[in-house]
Amino acid sequence: MNRFSKLTLVGLAALLALGACSKGQQSSSSTTTTTTENAASASPASTAGAMAAASPAANGVAANDGSKVYQTNCSSCHQANGQGVPGTFPPLAKNKTVAGPATKVIRIVKYGLNGKVVVHGSTYNGQMPAWATQLSNADIAAVLTYVRSSWGNNASAVTTAQVAAVKQ
Ligand code: HEC
Repeated sequence: MNRFSKLTLVGLAALLALGACSKGQQSSSSTTTTTTENAASASPASTAGAMAAASPAANGVAANDGSKVYQTNCSSCHQANGQGVPGTFPPLAKNKTVAGPATKVIRIVKYGLNGKVVVHGSTYNGQMPAWATQLSNADIAAVLTYVRSSWGNNASAVTTAQVAAVKQ
């Protein structure tokens, strides 16, 4: 009997610790800017998702909604269907750079791009803003995973760790 109640106590303590821990995560998630808001509003039912997005150990690809990040941050220029605006914003659909080596496309999204690029035979010479200060590594991973597998692109997923590893 004694042994049993000891076990119960240990169990209770573990539960309490878990509760405290997830509370801590929650409050830290609400201090992370746009990123977490995106994740939270993407699926209101999944507080767990928002919490996972805030935790540095989380795999952003699974936790964040790349399509949502895209519609919020990228579609104004590249359009919801990835077709861009001819002559002004390059299409991301069926785009060799987008579906090419992950490192290159990560660098473009993190640090921006200017200068000439040729996509589908049209030349673009505009300015792509840098996203490293606006989006978390997990959001960038999620949005790149989304664009690399949408609109005729068929390239590998991008992980948060890959994004974190790319320096300017
Ligand atoms: C304010 C408009 C704007 C927004 C918003 C924007 N981009 Fe861009 N993006 C551009 C422009 C302009 C270029 C071409 C830059 C150049 O001509 O050098 C570009 C280029 C790119 C390229 C390189 C394409 C290629 O073929 O070289 C990628 C990839 C890309 N954008 C992804 C994104 C993603 C992902 C987002 C959202 C996180 C985003 N862009 C948001 C304007 C934008």
